[in-house]
Amino acid sequence: MKQDLIVILDLGSTQNTVLAREIRKLGVYSEIHPHDITAQELQAFGNVKGIILNGGENRVVDGQAVDVRPEIYGLGCPVMSVDHPMSKCATQLPQLPDGKTLEKFLFEDCRAQANWNMKNFIEDQVGLIRQQVGDKKVLLALSGGVDSSVVAGMLVKAVGQQLVCVHVNHGLMRKNESESVVKVFRDELHANLVYVDASERFLAKLENVQDPEQKRKIIGGEFIRVFEEEAGKLEGIEFLGQGTIYPDIIESGTKTAKMVKSHHNVGGLPEDLKFQLVEPLKQLFKDEVRACGVELGLPHDMVYRQPFPGPGLGVRCLGAITRERLEAVRESDAILREEFAKAGLDKKVWQYFTVVPEFKSVGMKNNARVFEYMVIIRAINTIDAMTASIEKVDWDVLEKVTERILSEVEGVNRVCYDMSPKPPATIEFE
Ligand code: XMP
Repeated sequence: MKQDLIVILDLGSTQNTVLAREIRKLGVYSEIHPHDITAQELQAFGNVKGIILNGGENRVVDGQAVDVRPEIYGLGCPVMSVDHPMSKCATQLPQLPDGKTLEKFLFEDCRAQANWNMKNFIEDQVGLIRQQVGDKKVLLALSGGVDSSVVAGMLVKAVGQQLVCVHVNHGLMRKNESESVVKVFRDELHANLVYVDASERFLAKLENVQDPEQKRKIIGGEFIRVFEEEAGKLEGIEFLGQGTIYPDIIESGTKTAKMVKSHHNVGGLPEDLKFQLVEPLKQLFKDEVRACGVELGLPHDMVYRQPFPGPGLGVRCLGAITRERLEAVRESDAILREEFAKAGLDKKVWQYFTVVPEFKSVGMKNNARVFEYMVIIRAINTIDAMTASIEKVDWDVLEKVTERILSEVEGVNRVCYDMSPKPPATIEFE
């Protein structure tokens, strides 16, 4: 192991991630584990320099205060107990108010090295993946999103041709997105990539389907079927790579914290696929996943891309999807992204995209009446996607985007800017 490890044992604190980030900020790698982890499991990590028992408001479970196994005190590394003022527990642990105490614990008591960086993290993970996988094969559903791309980069580095990536193009990807996945992973990283163009199959299934939830279900369900079909053609696969990241685990609930939402990775692949999971990013926060991608040499655009919903442009081509309107969404989205990048807004605005509603309006083109679709531009800022405010986009940028959409996108005669915050609107339209 390259990196020293400080283990945080979760005694019901909601501040575990804050503490882990504080420690990582000081250059020391930190992981959060359940309070009932055994001494043997801790020993197996091989690099534990210190343990912090992190108490908090959820320490009492079913009327009883949870505690660690006494044997962990015998591991020979320093143990510090901390608590948070909100704790409802009668037997309070001491509080941690300042950074100095933490620094003293890390560097004086534990003698930890500040050697947490992405280069070392990748080296550690590559070693662990090789140990776990041996000479067996790993399957990965590579959507082209940040998390699956970074996992793919990591697995290519660790096991090379033993990794089989499957990229399913559901026909609802943004302009050049699937092409970029193939270019980066097959052509540049020489990954073993199966590219499945299932566009026609998805579009056929979605024909005349108007209801947003039904559209989502069809897209998700069909994705699983295509993926399973491809997996069925491969032999000797024992492992499934997953782009699980730390917030996914937290939101799925821990032994002391309640579930926020169940986490479905890779479009909710069924558990009965019967593979062992390889999840090398499961201890990383989103910004660290991006830093890991950069260190692995993935393109900046891929690593810093804005959030994009799993059902893709399918939820931005409102109502029943038609090829004509899907193309209008795809082309207008590409223009918006290009102009936002030119104006430097791609680094400032959290999410920006276009949608095309089902209805038409009257207009004039070449001195003749036309009856065509409209493009709606949406640009929002948010911290956690739970609420969102509107970006006050510079008028000149909006004019330029409008001008280009009206002249370059077929079948469109009107462009609108959505002014609605969330709530009451949601970020997406469907
Ligand atoms: P809403 O529309 O709920 O969106 O305000 C919040 C954030 O989630 C993204 N989003 C999705 N992401 N699958 C995803 O992976 C989905 O079905 C989905 N729906 C919405 C949305 O783009 C926004 O960032």
